[in-house]
Amino acid sequence: MATSDPHTALERVDYDRVQHAAYAKARALPAASIRHYMETFARHLPARRPLTVVDLGSGTGRFTPALADAFGGPVWGVEPAAAMRQAAEADATHPRVTYLAGEAAAIPLPDASVDVVLMFLSFHHVPDQAAGAAEIFRVVQPGGRVILRSTFRERIPDHWWRGFFPRSHAVEEAMFFSEAEARALFEAAGFSTVEVVHDEVPFEGDIEDAVARLKLRAVSTFEHMTDQELDEGFARIDAALAEGAIEEKSTYGDFIVFERPMETQKTTR
Ligand SMILES: C[S@@+](CC[C@H](N)C(=O)[O-])C[C@H]1O[C@@H](n2cnc3c(N)ncnc32)[C@H](O)[C@@H]1O
Repeated sequence: MATSDPHTALERVDYDRVQHAAYAKARALPAASIRHYMETFARHLPARRPLTVVDLGSGTGRFTPALADAFGGPVWGVEPAAAMRQAAEADATHPRVTYLAGEAAAIPLPDASVDVVLMFLSFHHVPDQAAGAAEIFRVVQPGGRVILRSTFRERIPDHWWRGFFPRSHAVEEAMFFSEAEARALFEAAGFSTVEVVHDEVPFEGDIEDAVARLKLRAVSTFEHMTDQELDEGFARIDAALAEGAIEEKSTYGDFIVFERPMETQKTTR
């Protein structure tokens, strides 16, 4: 690993090396949060069912089975890290889900074969984002949509844990593109922007459990911070938890909806 990311000058996070063993447990979402995302995404996708979906950068399959339940499928979970894919194949199975090796710039599916591509916190990891956007354009059929769920540089969420790791805000500013940059990339590939959605996701679940899961350190922001910074942050969290002083905050679930325009009919004479 240790290849430099041209967009952020931060080291790339290699999920075959880090996080894969803990990711599913550490980043598990309560059923209510998964439902929130599926219902929110559905408002921006065609109403017909079934929809063929690619979960691009599907990781351990946190959303992949839920996408099949919500939209019918088939759903393709495309993921470059073998260890993440193996975790998904073990614990996130569904009769209409298939996990495939691939990545944004090399999607192993035919041209114009899918209705929807979801990228959930994965596009900032793509080394060649222009090539990724062009490849996504290739597989989405005309009229099909892309949901780019990401943090955007100008709207870094104020997670419940943010204040305990003061440098994490600046790290995320370096990790993530702005909304305008994301739009420019996808529009250059041929997509039109349908909507920029600023969504708020309520805190669900139990704060003690959230602390225990955060301690598994499966957050890519933490890969760009020192062990000392992290140890100090977790010590502050332990103290605040003991005092009952951690504020349960909602977070952002922002995304941009893109559409591959319908092909204009060529006129013949
Ligand atoms: C933060 S995880 C998100 C996983 C999943 N979407 C979720 O929300 O749980 C980021 C994922 O992006 C994947 N990834 C890295 N480079 C990628 C690329 N070039 N194309 C697609 N996914 C990539 C990583 O291997 C990792 O599984």
